[in-house]
Amino acid sequence: MCVYQALYRKYRPSSFEDVISQQHITDTLKNQLLSGKTGHAYLFTGSRGTGKTTCARILAKALICENPKNGEPCLECELCRDMDNDRLSDIIEIDAASNGGVNDARELREAASYSPERCKYRVYIIDEVHMLSRDAFNALLKIIEEPPPHVKFILATTEIHKVLDTILSRCQRFDFRRIRTEDIAARIMSVAEKEQVSVDEDAAALIAKIADGGMRDALSIMDKCIAFSDKVTVDTVSEAAGIAGRGNLFDMTCAVCSKNASQALEIVSALHSNSKDMQQFAMELLEQIRNVMVIQNVSGAEKLIACTSAELEILKKCAADTDPAYIIHIMDMLGKCVERLGRSSSKRIELEMTFISLCTGQKAQSAPQAAAAVSFPSEDTAMLTARIAELEQQIKTMQSQGFAQQPVRRQPPVRQSGNVPMDAVTDTSKMDVNSAVLMPEWPEILERFAQVCPSVSGTLSESYGYVSNNYLLIVTKNNFFLSLLRNKENAEKLRETIKAVTGKNYSIRAKCTGAKQGAAENKLPQLMQKAAESNIPVETE
Ligand SMILES: Nc1ncnc2c1ncn2[C@@H]1O[C@H](COP(=O)(O)OP(=O)(O)OP(=O)(O)O)[C@@H](O)[C@H]1O
Ligand SMILES: [Mg+2]
Ligand SMILES: [Zn+2]
Repeated sequence: MCVYQALYRKYRPSSFEDVISQQHITDTLKNQLLSGKTGHAYLFTGSRGTGKTTCARILAKALICENPKNGEPCLECELCRDMDNDRLSDIIEIDAASNGGVNDARELREAASYSPERCKYRVYIIDEVHMLSRDAFNALLKIIEEPPPHVKFILATTEIHKVLDTILSRCQRFDFRRIRTEDIAARIMSVAEKEQVSVDEDAAALIAKIADGGMRDALSIMDKCIAFSDKVTVDTVSEAAGIAGRGNLFDMTCAVCSKNASQALEIVSALHSNSKDMQQFAMELLEQIRNVMVIQNVSGAEKLIACTSAELEILKKCAADTDPAYIIHIMDMLGKCVERLGRSSSKRIELEMTFISLCTGQKAQSAPQAAAAVSFPSEDTAMLTARIAELEQQIKTMQSQGFAQQPVRRQPPVRQSGNVPMDAVTDTSKMDVNSAVLMPEWPEILERFAQVCPSVSGTLSESYGYVSNNYLLIVTKNNFFLSLLRNKENAEKLRETIKAVTGKNYSIRAKCTGAKQGAAENKLPQLMQKAAESNIPVETE
């Protein structure tokens, strides 16, 4: 009978000689074994799939082997073979991550009193030791303080910072390195040969890059590739590793680098209709932007980047065409956006606003800078109407030109008379609507506000925030918001929330676009949105 065995299990090294990229560890261990000066407790740490469990097993075997050679287990004596078949009660493997801990604690308490059955030592291999139950942990601490001569401990963990000092100080610590890309690729090629499958060198290199230093991941990807085809190419790898179909991701990378807002929003819209996870997408985009930065700053960066060669060409072009300072700015904005996306309930808007800000340069300057840069004309309310007319005109022009990418020259606002009655909150007369920009923090403000003032926040479910100098214009569909905002307490809570998120004291103005409002005002948010979607800057340059 032939049971398929995962490659990473099949090719688990059985001797130190066969372990790659960890020579600083394997050499030391072999020397200790040769000289008979082994410790009573070891701690193996390092990232996933770098050989901790593998080396723990080899070390255990070498410790109990009847005929060790050069610090390696012989693999032939009865004890070596019984250990391979899990028939050696003196080697005890505990996986702290998968056990409730009741048995572990008992086993560990027994460790001190029982002597080994057949071997020189009882060897305890404790994987993910930072996850031991408290009872088990206390039992471990106790024996490790005064270890009986017949007991050896080999502890392993990926999270060394979670291991208490009391344990650390009693162990010999070995840090496993991420395995070098070249070493992984070479190993992949040698496994391919043994498995009699053809793997292109490029494909092996891509697997190695994706695996990011972990040999288990590399072999798992290879497993998938072989399931696809027995001729493994770069395409097979990108298919198997799930990096195929990343067109949107790289289109977006170009769109953001070249400040093409309409393309960026188109892509967001496509992602949205395909129900793609916006946060995941933003994180992947951040990684690609980071790759662009790496290309700009490191020679021979190709080796560090896990992508297909076509993708690499795109990244290189972005790197060549984009100002490095802007790349850093994108990373900064995108990083914050990813953070906010985790909390936000309006992820699409959150992402859109980030792209608009990036592509149109809005919010690129800090608030005080912006205030200094934009003069503050005290205009009459008609400005609003004028601005709307202007935006409408711009959108028409853009539409007739098929949204061609070209700078939009702003006409000076046409003054019109005709006042809309407004009170303190709705009075936008002192606002320079021309310079109003979408506020990137708005979704976050909403999120927080929902916690302190759920009743009012409900009326903001379909709202946008625009800033102009020290004014914040809230445009919401729900008319009820205005009456709620006139309540001092509510207004205060909102102001505090805004201050908490932005660090600024804005004068708040509100517009409700529900049935009762004047027709001209109704259009503002719509137009702002439309303008944004068609890449019309809604900001004065
Ligand atoms: N240094 C290495 N040399 C050769 N193969 C390795 C090496 N490290 C890992 N592997 C391969 O990866 C598989 C998993 O390795 P291992 O279980 O030792 O990783 P680990 O460091 O314990 O990972 P984890 O933290 O996830 O438990 C092995 O079976 C082997 O195929
Ligand atoms: Mg392990
Ligand atoms: Zn042996």
